[in-house]
Amino acid sequence: MSSETRVHVEPVPRLLGHVAVPGDKSISHRAVLIGAICDGETRIAGFGRSADTEATIAAVRACGVTVSEQAHDELRVAGVGLRGLTAPRGPIDCRNAGTLVRLFAGILAGQPWQEFELVGDASLSARPMGRIVDPLREMGAGIESADGTLPLGVQGRSLHAVTYRLPVASAQVKSAILLAGLYADGETTVVEPVPTRDHTERMLETAGAPVTRRPESVSIRPAERLSLGEVEVPGDFSSAAPLIVAATLVPGSELHVHGVNLNPRRTGLLGILERMGARVTTYNRREIGAEPAGDIEVHAAPLVGTTVDGHEVPVAIDELPLFALAAACARGESVLRGAEELRAKESDRIETTVDALRALGVRARATADGFRITGVPARLRGGHVSSRGDHRVAMLGAVAGLVSREGVRVDGADAVAVSFPGFFELLTELRRASDVAEDDRR
Ligand code: S3P
Repeated sequence: MSSETRVHVEPVPRLLGHVAVPGDKSISHRAVLIGAICDGETRIAGFGRSADTEATIAAVRACGVTVSEQAHDELRVAGVGLRGLTAPRGPIDCRNAGTLVRLFAGILAGQPWQEFELVGDASLSARPMGRIVDPLREMGAGIESADGTLPLGVQGRSLHAVTYRLPVASAQVKSAILLAGLYADGETTVVEPVPTRDHTERMLETAGAPVTRRPESVSIRPAERLSLGEVEVPGDFSSAAPLIVAATLVPGSELHVHGVNLNPRRTGLLGILERMGARVTTYNRREIGAEPAGDIEVHAAPLVGTTVDGHEVPVAIDELPLFALAAACARGESVLRGAEELRAKESDRIETTVDALRALGVRARATADGFRITGVPARLRGGHVSSRGDHRVAMLGAVAGLVSREGVRVDGADAVAVSFPGFFELLTELRRASDVAEDDRR
């Protein structure tokens, strides 16, 4: 990804209005992957199109699945059944998408007599894969990885049921095992000491798989067939989060974000912000595609620092860079602990987050498992932020620009396309809508 794309984000006087964000990335990946092994057609509405989810479409197409794109956010996936995937001649390129490589490995491990190779870009190739290789091997999978990273070789075969306790809290690892469990010879159980996002088990249940959920574990028995039919994808809380933090920090703001996934295993940031004094409420709660969803209303509010501990980390994992920004603008010190997992993301997000804030004049320090930030309850100075190829860091820089005094230049801004290609356009639109709303108020 080019590090040359630069975007200047100027301060905004206030954020006013109503917005919607694209469909959830995690759920969009799962709808295509599970749709691919269903019997019959899956129709996906509200698909979150991004570089990551397009990699997933390309991956299942490479394995013989027809995906037709009815509209920008509407897909039809012609499922080939549980064991109908066919290996392409060359490797399957998972690009930057950790969710794709880890979940697909679980499915491919169960495709009889087929051999697959999974590769990715430089960032994905540096991320740990031993965490899926170990449990899948325990299930009898034929899976090769030279040094616990990509490329992964997967030879499909019949698998054994296991009970596996997750050594790291990871929904991707849990999902890989559950998907492989569809092909096992009994009941497969994943024990998770700390709850992680549960989109896979929700969707597999909807598709008719025998899933049993308990507070600390989830089990699956082999399914005869899966069928999803229609999937409606709610808006992505992780894409709403930059807007929520921006509207909290820019004085005088009042912003509504509509149709957002409010699965409690995703919305940990709301609890953290609430503790810091934010004024965020949810309303119009409803179900969208077997997921809790609703609308979010944010009013600007002064914040105070807080501590975030390990138990809160999985439910806020992708929003922790934004927590850091909120902490930088809060009164007093904030601490993040038990978040070493951040070092295994698209970048080492402990270092890249702290570097980004320091570049803006914030007193921030990385620790082994998190960071410490000394907040100043005034607008940030501004400056330059480098995304280091990480979409969440690029969005952190952009939000910092909105809430700053002098604006922020985001280098490598194109990284946002990994999860939210229209992010900067939405900010421009929101800026314009806020100006109009402001004029109407006068
Ligand atoms: C994801 C799970 C999380 C998250 C990632 C998406 C998923 O990763 O950080 O962006 O879709 O399951 P881990 O499960 O590895 O923590």
